[in-house]
Amino acid sequence: MRHFDGWEIILLRMVSIQDFADRLSAIPRERFTRENVLAFMRDNRVDVKTLAPYLFFSGDHYTRNLIRRTPMFELIAICWESGQGSAIHNHCDQRCWMAVPYGKVQVLNFQVVRRDNSTGFCELRPSTHYLIEPDSPQEVDPEEPVHQVVNAASFGSRAVTLHVYSYPYETCEVYDLKAMRAGMVRLVNTTEFGVVKSDLKLEKVAL
Ligand SMILES: [Fe+2]
Repeated sequence: MRHFDGWEIILLRMVSIQDFADRLSAIPRERFTRENVLAFMRDNRVDVKTLAPYLFFSGDHYTRNLIRRTPMFELIAICWESGQGSAIHNHCDQRCWMAVPYGKVQVLNFQVVRRDNSTGFCELRPSTHYLIEPDSPQEVDPEEPVHQVVNAASFGSRAVTLHVYSYPYETCEVYDLKAMRAGMVRLVNTTEFGVVKSDLKLEKVAL
């Protein structure tokens, strides 16, 4: 963003996912910071048409579609049918930034009230929430990293979110709000580099 005599000029460019991934890969490790990556995502909006090789939807579950993996980050497109949402989860000290090339999603944050790692007990309390739309990429709050992403049925649309995770990671802590339990799950990609890796019934969609 640049400011001239009280005017605010937003310098954002529409880029292909290939360009986006290449530019992201070119950020040196010492500059791969919260602020820089968030600014990068705000300045480089991905043209959803270029995501076509990675867009697979399933009525059974949201899908995770790996686009790029480097030692520094993973870039994943998640496809949500209307009404689908994630489990309440925590990326366990990995940074996470999110953009929404198509549709919109709601992020619900939770505070950990009490937990006992020896038994798996974990009590959560809902806290803040916000929307992510195409012009408002966001990051997971490191001070309150337990969250849930929902493409609410009331939004009336599919959604595609683009996630940058740093570093790449394979497990995630998930929570059951009512049962007050926490546990680790292994993350599984639905597709990797456009190749199907899952038994889910999938629909490949160009938006
Ligand atoms: Fe997340």
